[in-house]
Amino acid sequence: MAILSVKNIKKTYITRFGGNQVQALKNVTFDVEQGEYVAIMGESGSGKTTLLNILAALDKPTSGTVLLENRDFSRIKESERAIFRRDNLGFVFQEFNLLDTFSLQDNIFLPLVLAGMDYKTMNSRLQPIAEKLEITQLLQKFPYEVSGGQKQRAAVARALITQPKLILADEPTGALDSRATDELLRLFSAVNDGGQTILMVTHSVKAASHANRVLFIRDGEVFHQIYRGTSTNEQLYQKVADTLTMLATGGDRA
Ligand SMILES: Nc1ncnc2c1ncn2[C@@H]1O[C@H](COP(=O)(O)OP(=O)(O)O)[C@@H](O)[C@H]1O
Ligand SMILES: [Mg+2]
Repeated sequence: MAILSVKNIKKTYITRFGGNQVQALKNVTFDVEQGEYVAIMGESGSGKTTLLNILAALDKPTSGTVLLENRDFSRIKESERAIFRRDNLGFVFQEFNLLDTFSLQDNIFLPLVLAGMDYKTMNSRLQPIAEKLEITQLLQKFPYEVSGGQKQRAAVARALITQPKLILADEPTGALDSRATDELLRLFSAVNDGGQTILMVTHSVKAASHANRVLFIRDGEVFHQIYRGTSTNEQLYQKVADTLTMLATGGDRA
């Protein structure tokens, strides 16, 4: 069953000055099946963040529909939207969006505090995630006291701690060195093996090669996709790299 169904999404931004229009998404249609691990690649400015914000119900499409488990986002009342999001989605933002006046731990606990969970349960959920992300020693620190990579790992922990059905991640390895990237990819694979669905925007061929499917977006449209099939990570890496080369050299569909 499709957990997420995106149909004919268009997004046009009207800029504040002069009324210029930017067509960030032209016509995006795809489904994500329950339990899939999908990577989205595309050049800067191709509409990836716009798409994720719409999928997280943080922004509305100009037209088109998004169904999450057959529920139409546009039909969810504004007052229920935050709860719907909290109960179904985990989001790793490109800009991390950690609160500066909260420790990393309090940032990570925040969605659960809002859901009324007790400290003991929150803590027992946090420990294994923090260990895998190697932030156990940093939990009492504040965002301004840690590096970009450490903030990114805290943001990932915050997205995972609610055990969401669908995890949306915008460049989750963008601020990480190669060792932290490997750890994060291992964690994502383990989370996906446990049944959670992942949709991850990435620039990294390595990160994409861990997914089951890679979607390529260009000029606001999905123009190509690669299914892993029986490929190993190394083989998928090669296919993704070849596709990006083909894209960069202006070739058409592979
Ligand atoms: N809030 C906004 N107002 C106007 N234009 C925007 C806004 N957000 C993004 N854009 C434009 O939409 C296009 C897609 O942006 P974005 O979704 O951030 O791309 P990506 O994440 O792939 O780099 C770009 O041309 C960008 O400048
Ligand atoms: Mg972006």
